[in-house]
Amino acid sequence: MPLVVFETPAAPPLGVSAPDGGRLVDVCDERSACIPFSCRSASCGTCRIEVLEGAELLDPPRDDEVDVLEIFGDDPSRRRLACQVRFRGGEGVLRVRPCDD
Ligand code: FES
Repeated sequence: MPLVVFETPAAPPLGVSAPDGGRLVDVCDERSACIPFSCRSASCGTCRIEVLEGAELLDPPRDDEVDVLEIFGDDPSRRRLACQVRFRGGEGVLRVRPCDD
């Protein structure tokens, strides 16, 4: 079960356990995490996050997620759409923060 740490400049980091195979968006909703959402369907890019550590704990992005990230010029190995992220099984720390550009 991964530990997700949400980081922002304005608040202390928030650490939350995430279920194997679960979705990051559900963890964000349950814990009122600092990631903004809008469409929740890989269309708008509002939920773009920077993955600071632990990308290997995540399933790879699907084509529709990559398409949106490319519109913003993001590298899918370093940035993701939080509404599309699913956790692989396994232990580790995922550190993320919302994109501010
Ligand atoms: S909320 Fe729109 S792409 Fe994630």
